[in-house]
Amino acid sequence: MSYTPEMRESIKKVEATRPYRLHNDFPPMSLQEREEILRKFHPDYIEDKMRPIRVGVSKGQRMPLELADVMEGKPRIDPDKFDLSEVDYETDVLVIGGGGAGAAAALMAQEHGAKVILATKLRFGDANTMMAQGGIQAADKPNDSPVIHYLDVVGGGHFVNIPDLVEALVMDAPFVISWLESLGMMFDKEPDGTMRTQHGGGTSRKRMHSARDYSGAEIMRTLRDEVRNRYQDITVLEFSPAIELILDENGQCAGAILMNLETGEHLIVKAKCTVLATGGSGRLHYQGFPTTNHYGATADGLVIGYRAGVPLIFLDTMQYHPTGAAYPEQIVGLLVTEKVRGLGAQVLNVDGEQFVFPREPRDVESAAIIRECVERKKGVKTPSGMCGVWLDSPMIDILHGPGTIQRELPAMVRQFKRFGIDITKEPILVYPTLHYQNGGLQYNVDGSTVVPNLFAAGEVTGGVHGRNRLMGNSLLDVLVFGRRAGTSAALRSKEVKLGRLTLDHVRQWIRELKEAGIEPKVESPILLPDYTRKVK
Ligand code: FUM
Repeated sequence: MSYTPEMRESIKKVEATRPYRLHNDFPPMSLQEREEILRKFHPDYIEDKMRPIRVGVSKGQRMPLELADVMEGKPRIDPDKFDLSEVDYETDVLVIGGGGAGAAAALMAQEHGAKVILATKLRFGDANTMMAQGGIQAADKPNDSPVIHYLDVVGGGHFVNIPDLVEALVMDAPFVISWLESLGMMFDKEPDGTMRTQHGGGTSRKRMHSARDYSGAEIMRTLRDEVRNRYQDITVLEFSPAIELILDENGQCAGAILMNLETGEHLIVKAKCTVLATGGSGRLHYQGFPTTNHYGATADGLVIGYRAGVPLIFLDTMQYHPTGAAYPEQIVGLLVTEKVRGLGAQVLNVDGEQFVFPREPRDVESAAIIRECVERKKGVKTPSGMCGVWLDSPMIDILHGPGTIQRELPAMVRQFKRFGIDITKEPILVYPTLHYQNGGLQYNVDGSTVVPNLFAAGEVTGGVHGRNRLMGNSLLDVLVFGRRAGTSAALRSKEVKLGRLTLDHVRQWIRELKEAGIEPKVESPILLPDYTRKVK
């Protein structure tokens, strides 16, 4: 399935403007222009698509309607009937989540002397980390520094990021790159052996380190192998999502209830410390957007962490990646990595005209694409009625020489070739897609939360990215804070004395729902997205 005749007519216009565009990029927007376009066109700003949560410690905080319904869900267990007396596993550190943050936490906890259980909902590695393409940021070049990285992060995040968290992120970054390399990660290198780095949206230096366009998969391969190597101290439980945290009579976190996805059986894990690393919520498809996220991204950690008393931050801001595939239908919403723009591809309307600087921060870039389609009616229509704009990938080979696209973006080339589209010769049709949860559970630089012995890391948390994350800072976030949370949990576990296990916080939750007159719409955590067609 290659492009339709109408699309081909538009591609001729794209080709016609290439010679001019080779020497003329569209200018970046001013701060004021950015604020204006966000207010008018970014999905976060549509008032009636958000509502306040009505119960819990962050009562009143706004979030997408779909998330609020899940957060106000009915627990999957009845705390009055659930027996906590028979413990199935006992450990120093329980890590919940099998992505980059969970794996990094497990490794560091083990290195600090803890016995670790890593429990994950699907297979170990089924996570957004595995699907990340473009790269990981770290200021480790002579023309760069953590201070410049800090300024980029805070600028991209609209100046509301939590400063201590940003400092930890950028300061640990160069070490994280060498740690990954020491574990065997194959980074892209220049012929002289130095790291090859690229720009991302909103970066003022080239600091995106990559492994072609499967950077996340390479990171996950490296970490997963290492966890598997340490099997004597780290037990991995797959297909075992956590459905509730367990506290003790003194309000300390004391482990979790897992559910065997195949049998439905419940397992009680008693743990001196617990790390929540369950990822984000893209599979809730806010406002009907398609998503780049993996199948298990259903907000589970937010739900159980919040019920246990951890406050929320910035959940009224979601990230819509500017370049999700808009054609062909079979891959709508899948990621077209920002690395394509980082390498020089420009974003064009139906007439082949540039309308936005290609490396604006993601929220601004997405808003500009939505404006081009919705207000200016300058998008390209697909046979199924979607609208998209062109991402002119062939510019990359024109700028950097033939073979660059194949070398730098092999996964992208393969993804489109399956449908008869050669992205080395033809542009890619794109439209924003739901990509990331900018906010989440509140946490501290050591990964701790307000609940004693409960730590959190990665996309389930919020604060470090402010109201908009920059490319490559998510892979960095999961590793920096996964490592910190795992280390802190292991050290803390040496001092912990647990009391009687309870589910009083779940009882309290049910009481609060009732007092607020809420009839929960779902049982949560929902664990898997519901794609069944609802027939009346
Ligand atoms: O575009 C990308 O490759 C995505 C990277 C990220 O979200 O950090």
